[in-house]
Amino acid sequence: MTKITRAGVTFPPDLLKDFDEIIGKMGYESRSKAIQDAVRLFVSERKWLQEEENTTQTGIILMVYDHDARGLETTLTDSQHHHSDLIFSTLHIHISERDCLEAIAVKGKAHEIRELSDELATKRGVKILKTVIVTI
Ligand code: NI
Ligand code: NI
Repeated sequence: MTKITRAGVTFPPDLLKDFDEIIGKMGYESRSKAIQDAVRLFVSERKWLQEEENTTQTGIILMVYDHDARGLETTLTDSQHHHSDLIFSTLHIHISERDCLEAIAVKGKAHEIRELSDELATKRGVKILKTVIVTI
């Protein structure tokens, strides 16, 4: 069995109240499990940024962009073709008349994923870009 360490943590009352409300609705039986999950998510989200540039990482690049922005769709496609060795699948959802959501599943070297992510994020017309890398 994994050894457990006890950590005493203080919370602002409002934050704890919101937290308890949410985990109650979700069906968590103990606060400890919910806090562990929240911390694990935080660590998983940040860990890959500290990893060596050459470690293999897997995740999703989530982006929302304005498809009316001139030349954007072509530029985004060109970028993805250029990094095609990293991309395993792409999901496209037309959100509204103008906005598109794209979820790009990636697996490759950390620095290559970062490069693609930065390349897409900085294009004019890209409104949201979030890179979620799973580190277990
Ligand atoms: Ni293509
Ligand atoms: Ni679309």
